[in-house]
Amino acid sequence: MEQVVKPRIFVSRAIPADLEPLRLVAEVSVWEGELPPPREVLLERLQGCQGLLCLLTERVDAALLAACPELKWVSNMAAGVDNIDLAACSARHIPVGHTPGVLTDATADMAFALLLAAARRLPEADAFVRAGKWKTWSPTLLLGLELRGATLGIAGFGAIGRAVAERARGFGMRILYTARSPRPVREAEWVDKRTLLSQSDAVSIHLALSEETRHWLDAEALSWMKPGSLVVNTARGALVDEAALVQALGQGRPAFAALDVMETEPLPLGSPLLGLPNVLVAPHLGSATRKTREAMASRAVENLVAAVEGKPMVTRAN
Ligand code: DGY
Repeated sequence: MEQVVKPRIFVSRAIPADLEPLRLVAEVSVWEGELPPPREVLLERLQGCQGLLCLLTERVDAALLAACPELKWVSNMAAGVDNIDLAACSARHIPVGHTPGVLTDATADMAFALLLAAARRLPEADAFVRAGKWKTWSPTLLLGLELRGATLGIAGFGAIGRAVAERARGFGMRILYTARSPRPVREAEWVDKRTLLSQSDAVSIHLALSEETRHWLDAEALSWMKPGSLVVNTARGALVDEAALVQALGQGRPAFAALDVMETEPLPLGSPLLGLPNVLVAPHLGSATRKTREAMASRAVENLVAAVEGKPMVTRAN
């Protein structure tokens, strides 16, 4: 009887999903490290592999594709695919799976958690108490922004931006948004970028990162922000020019930045952002609920299984 040779798949980290469906159709090898495989190790482990299940920490670019000519399928355990050269994959007819949809609510919750923490100055409050500065109740101590009646500007009105709007409506906020075209959404006004930045008390960024949107919030855009306003970023760090943001924070425009994503991740300990009291940083936790991470991992497996079986991926990016 003829032996069926299964395709080989490399999974670049242990993920919270049952890999059995993948093992049924492929020889699966999983990177055993807690940190991402170094680039040269990734290239080495991919030799002879037809499939890659990777995270946003792996750069899948033209050089990797050239070095791994047998690669036929890529499945990213993330909604964002800025770590992957989609054009280079398409040129090689490599379908790229990703995981949009399943992380919408978790990410919107995180944006709202950051918004509330920034509005009520929680990082400063926590530092204040720990430093032994709490002497009495004071009528003017650490006054923040009340959300009811305040204006929230949502940059990018895809699923996550709209889920943030849904939460903001519950808090009685006025909602402005930017998008390529207006969306039929209740109680939210479609505006241009400058209007969004100049009228919003808080801005939450939900754009996909591309060459067009890189440094969307640059020095000029920051200068349009309202004095005393807040900015929240749960999308991608490079949407914000961090050096310009540091300058702008020094001038109170914006007065506070709550960032879940950075231009360089992990954020270097020497980053000037870490020296500022009006900055809250989190280590890219937008989708970090158990339910969502399991759903992302399962979708990444499903996408790859489908590709191995010659079927369309459930959610494909190219
Ligand atoms: C994504 O999926 O793109 C998120 O950034 C992961 O949290």
